[in-house]
Amino acid sequence: MTTILRGNIIHAPVFGKLEAVPRGFLVLEDGIIRGLYAELPPEYAACPVTDYGNRLILKSFADLHLHAPQYPMLGMGMDLPLLDWLHTYTFNTEARFADAAYARRVYRQLAHDLITSGTTRVAMFSSRHTDATLILMEELERAGVTGYVGKVNMDRDSGVAQEGTEESIRETLRWLDGCRFAHVKPILTPRFTPSCSDELMAELGRIAKERGLLVQSHLSENPGEVALVKDLHPDCAQYWETYDKYGLWKPGTLMAHCVHSDQREQEAMAASGVWAVHCAASNVNLCSGTAPIREMLDRGVHVALGSDIAGGDQLAMNKVVTMSIRASKIKQLETGAPFLTVPEAYYLGASAPQEWFGERPGFQPGDSLHAVVVDDGGLPEPVRELSLSERFERSIYLMDKSCITAVYSGGRKVLG
Ligand code: GUN
Ligand code: FE
Repeated sequence: MTTILRGNIIHAPVFGKLEAVPRGFLVLEDGIIRGLYAELPPEYAACPVTDYGNRLILKSFADLHLHAPQYPMLGMGMDLPLLDWLHTYTFNTEARFADAAYARRVYRQLAHDLITSGTTRVAMFSSRHTDATLILMEELERAGVTGYVGKVNMDRDSGVAQEGTEESIRETLRWLDGCRFAHVKPILTPRFTPSCSDELMAELGRIAKERGLLVQSHLSENPGEVALVKDLHPDCAQYWETYDKYGLWKPGTLMAHCVHSDQREQEAMAASGVWAVHCAASNVNLCSGTAPIREMLDRGVHVALGSDIAGGDQLAMNKVVTMSIRASKIKQLETGAPFLTVPEAYYLGASAPQEWFGERPGFQPGDSLHAVVVDDGGLPEPVRELSLSERFERSIYLMDKSCITAVYSGGRKVLG
C-alpha cells in the first residue's frame, strides 16, 4: 500500500551535509521508501497523506552501544574508574537479571523509553542470562525497536556476574536457538578481553564463523584496562590483536570506546572494517578520556555513536550527539583536531549506522523508513524566524520526549 508523509524533511545523506526539503513528501510502499520529493508526482495524487504541518521529519537515531541491564543504575555510581566501577556497581546490578520478572519490568520500560526518545535501531548488550536476554529481545520487538542484542559472555574476573566456561558456551547456543524474532537479531558479545578466557574467546570465534554472526565488544577504553589486557596476552602487541587472534576482529565488528586507540590500532580498524562506537558521556563520566574521533574519521574508520547506558547517563541520542560535539571541542583544545559540527555529529548518530545495518545514509529509495517527527513549537521563542537548518540544530540540542510527535521504525508507525 502506498502512503505519504508530509512535513519539513531533513536528513544527512552525506557526512557533514544536511539536505532540507521544506514541506516535502516522503512516499512509502509498505513502509519502504519509494522517493523523497519537493513536489508530489501526479501518480501519487490519490494516495493518503499524513501531514505533519510545520514539524520536522528527521531520520531517527541508532544507539550502537548500550547495556540494557545497567538501566537500573542510570545516573548513579560514576565516581570510579572503569575496572573498579565494574566490580563495585555493575556486576552486582547485572546479577539481578537472573530474575525473569525483574528483567521483564526493566526491559519493558527501557524499550518504551528508547522509542519515545526517537531511537529505533540498537546494538545492545544484555547480561549473561539467557532467559533475560530473550525477554529483552521480546520487549524490544514489542515496542518496535529493531537491531541486535547480545547475551554477554563473561567467564573470568567478573564477580557475582561470572559464568563458567562450559556454561557460557552452552547457554550461548541455547540463546541462539531461542532467537526467533522478526526485527531483533543476535550478535555475539564477549564482554571484553579481561572478562573472557582464551578458551571462551576461541569458541566464540568458531561460533561466529560457523553461523555467520556479527560481534560486539569493548576496546581501549581506559589505561588500567589496556595494561591488564597486555598482562593477559603478552603475545599481542596491542589490545585489538586479542580479538583478532580468535577470529572476532572482522568486517562489521563493533568496538565500543577506542579512547586510547593509537594510529596502529586505528589503521587495523580501518583495514578490517571494524567500527568504533563513540560513547562520549561515558568516557567523561568514568574519567576514561576523550576519543580521537576526527583522527579516526580521517583514517577511514567507520564511526557510530552509543549512549553506553549506564556508564553514559543520557539515553536520548540527541543528547549523545551533542555530548560528542562537546567532547570533540575538548579534544580540539588538546590536539587542534577540528571539532565535530552539528551535521557531522548527527550523521554519526543517525546516518552512519544505516550502513552498518546494510542500508544507505539518509532517506533513500529501497530502504525501510526510520523516522522521528519533531515539534519544536514549544521551544523558547526565537528572536526571528529560523531557517530549517537552524531549527534542526536547535532541536538536536534541546528536544526531549515532549517534542516527539511520532516515530516510525522499520516502516511501521510505533509512536503517535
Ligand atoms: N567494559 C567491559 N564492560 C563494560 C561496561 O559494562 N561498561 C563500559 N563502559 N565498559 C565496559
Ligand atoms: Fe559499554
